[in-house]
Amino acid sequence: MTFDAAPATALPPAYTLLGRTGLRVSRLALGTMTFGTEHGFGCDRATARALFDSYLDWGGNFIDTADVYTQGTSERWLGEFMREAGVRDRVVLATKYTNNFSNTARDPNAAGNGRKALQRALEASLSRLGTDCIDLYYLHMWDTVTPVEEVLRSMDDLVRAGKIRHWALSDVPAWYAARAITLAQAHGLEQPCALQMEYSLVSRGIEYEFTSMCQELGIGLVPWSPLGGGLLSGKYRPHVGAADQDEGRIRNTAQVATPSLNKLTPRNWDIVAELEAVAREIGRPMAQVAVHWVVQRPSVSSVILGATKPQQLAQILPALDFTLPPELEQRLDAVGKLPAIFPYAFIDTMVPRLYGGAQVLATPPRFAQPLQQRGGSWR
Ligand SMILES: NC(=O)c1ccc[n+]([C@@H]2O[C@H](COP(=O)([O-])OP(=O)(O)OC[C@H]3O[C@@H](n4cnc5c(N)ncnc54)[C@H](OP(=O)(O)O)[C@@H]3O)[C@@H](O)[C@H]2O)c1
Repeated sequence: MTFDAAPATALPPAYTLLGRTGLRVSRLALGTMTFGTEHGFGCDRATARALFDSYLDWGGNFIDTADVYTQGTSERWLGEFMREAGVRDRVVLATKYTNNFSNTARDPNAAGNGRKALQRALEASLSRLGTDCIDLYYLHMWDTVTPVEEVLRSMDDLVRAGKIRHWALSDVPAWYAARAITLAQAHGLEQPCALQMEYSLVSRGIEYEFTSMCQELGIGLVPWSPLGGGLLSGKYRPHVGAADQDEGRIRNTAQVATPSLNKLTPRNWDIVAELEAVAREIGRPMAQVAVHWVVQRPSVSSVILGATKPQQLAQILPALDFTLPPELEQRLDAVGKLPAIFPYAFIDTMVPRLYGGAQVLATPPRFAQPLQQRGGSWR
């Protein structure tokens, strides 16, 4: 198990522009879903503060939260930490609305994507975070009913009112994101600049539609759960029952009814085994290699890390400090590759005929390269 390996000191971060904006973000973001224990996992305030401090000391500037995380504790602590450390201006602060579960039993407008829920959620987030403007405001997930036009207009109004600087989408179908961006472009409204989706060696569903859409439309992909909730750290083992696994979140989520939360599957054990072999060959901790793989994928701007202990964060921050030889990258790519399905497989077969035998290259990705390969720490 590589978890106990002594963490190396990470090199300063690389930054990139987020989508087609001028916003510079570090290519590793800090997720704060673990700030608080209300979800049945996470950490106490002192540990959260240590995670926050070490991320900023490293030079990271992109911090992700949501109104729903730990019932508001995550936003509250983050606001306190930024104020105490005097770093609000330096942080690119991202939060989300949609999943406000309080009072939903008696109020169908309390949650969801509609303007009424949005405006109320934003005011509550601004108050908990102790700030007057959010740098990046996400629609957290599609509610399946609110017209996209209402979301576009509302987000554009909030940018004009100075309450948010940029906005983005999370957990939406590709057609919805494409419609939002295209309508925004056509009507001169503020466009969503980023897309936050689950992406890791064990969760690759977005490769069918989302990565190419992000390239085509200039959206920064911001993956969440790069370790599959901790599975790809290597601390879980196939021969041990879920209840006996090493301490960690997956112990709690393995038995839940939502299939996507159960990571302890035969397919995933094969991926963990290959990751372990590759990590051993390159002499890096499995968690580092797993995060590295996600950051290097097409369209990815910044990957959101999660941690419950400072030593976990210390282990994954050097994820960009090495290169993976192409043959090892190909092995990782191959082990969890999803089956070719219609229409993509059909298109792949037909396209060579459309090029008359010549090689025709697509436009290269516009923003996959870091703005600055290695900069100094800004703190
Ligand atoms: N938009 C969305 O719908 C959405 C959904 C989920 C998350 N997110 C965002 O993405 C962030 C990251 O998500 P995630 O927490 O699921 O990411 P993850 O990287 O898949 O899992 C992180 C968890 O893995 C374990 N871990 C991390 N580093 C480790 C190491 N070196 N060794 C052993 N275990 C390690 C820790 O959990 P244990 O200590 O409990 O094992 C940690 O909390 C969240 O904080 C949130 O900001 C967004």
